Amino acid sequence: MYRIALTAHDDFDGWRGAARRLAMAGVDPADILWQVGEAPGDLFGGDPLPPDRADAGFSVSRAFIDLAQKASLHRDPERFALLYALLCRLRGRPGLMEDKADPLLRRIDILAKAVRRDIHKMRAFVRFREMADEGGERFVAWFEPEHHIVRANAGFFLRRFAAMRWSILTPDVSIHWDGETLIEGLGAQRNDAPDGDPVEALWTGYYAAIFNPARLKTGAMLSEMPKKYWRNLPEAALIPDLIAGAQAREAAMIATAPLPEKAPRRQGDIATVWATIRQEAMGCTRCALHRDATQTVFGEGPLDAPLLFIGEQPGDQEDLAGRPFVGPAGQLFDRALAQAGVDRSRAYVTNAVKHFKFERQGKRRLHQSPDAGEIEACRWWLGQEIELIRPRIIVALGASAARAMLGKAVTISRTRGSAIALKDGAEGWVTVHPSYLLRLPDAERQAAEQARFVDDLRVVAERVKRG
Ligand code: URA
Repeated sequence: MYRIALTAHDDFDGWRGAARRLAMAGVDPADILWQVGEAPGDLFGGDPLPPDRADAGFSVSRAFIDLAQKASLHRDPERFALLYALLCRLRGRPGLMEDKADPLLRRIDILAKAVRRDIHKMRAFVRFREMADEGGERFVAWFEPEHHIVRANAGFFLRRFAAMRWSILTPDVSIHWDGETLIEGLGAQRNDAPDGDPVEALWTGYYAAIFNPARLKTGAMLSEMPKKYWRNLPEAALIPDLIAGAQAREAAMIATAPLPEKAPRRQGDIATVWATIRQEAMGCTRCALHRDATQTVFGEGPLDAPLLFIGEQPGDQEDLAGRPFVGPAGQLFDRALAQAGVDRSRAYVTNAVKHFKFERQGKRRLHQSPDAGEIEACRWWLGQEIELIRPRIIVALGASAARAMLGKAVTISRTRGSAIALKDGAEGWVTVHPSYLLRLPDAERQAAEQARFVDDLRVVAERVKRG
């Protein structure tokens, strides 16, 4: 029997080192007891760990490491044993990570998802209160995570609040930043953190000002901001009154909303005007997405194109390249266009939203769908592209693009397959987004849906040919 004592609840490196040696020696999962810290029975020890055969070639996929790293932070006492069992099975079946129906993989996936959610909650719901200590001003927050995520989340707060002195207190551990060093302390209690001060007044004022009654969805709000976090959130005390006044405020907002702005009349030939609009879009700050994206990804293609495609927003690769549809979704799109007999170089291709919206996860930037406000803000540019190019046919790829094309939300299944009369005589079509096809887990369904997508493009190609 092997007894592995990890140094802390989030000691992933300890688990990884031991798991590697055990797996290489072929140790059965049932012969290992994973624990955190030393337990009284350890006096009798366990078998010594097998030697580290660093030269023996042992590799696992990045996907497994990412998943294991997250799942290892869960409070489930069995997590380390489950991860080891998965590691052993993966050695004999490398394709297992793709098998979404595998019960063990699914169970671990659920753990990882809960941890990701908890990490997100901590980022969203930590609220600092100002106080003073011997070093001067210090911002202190209290948070109760569900899982062992505090150390894993420290980097986020460090980057965000590098210039402040702060402490985050939690029941298991506390972390303190003094502007130069991050130190760790013991767990704390709720009343160790201050409870209301001038920062709070500022924050509640800000929250009341940004609270948008037109976006009020109480159910969604409760699931995103569970009541258990309300105790720590100064703005939560405002919520009942804000909800009560929401309908009246919404009516007032509609009544006083400014009319949509009109883009300026542009002088010059079409290429010069397009270049001017594009240049202006490069400095766009109409919504917050410009802050994190690398650059604006404007549309491209011939300015006399009879056919214009609207995607959702640039992805990771498009954001870096500065061109639409060059990543995996773009490659699928290119293949489908070729099968449908559409020459991409004769079409104008653009996006509803021109900046990449993402969430960072380690080194990866994970796509996030744009919201209605971001799509609306970016219609300023899309509208000008369409007005300038005046395509005969516009194809919206996916729901965000359809919303941008039509100015309202529609369901793909109901709008797909028939022409929609747009202003200025253009004809609109709605179909699925190529990324949707990439995400379909089932190969058979993927093939069928891709064929349907190609059929949609064929219909459009036919309409273009007929003029
Ligand atoms: N998805 C889109 O909608 N647009 C791109 O440019 C790339 C991926």
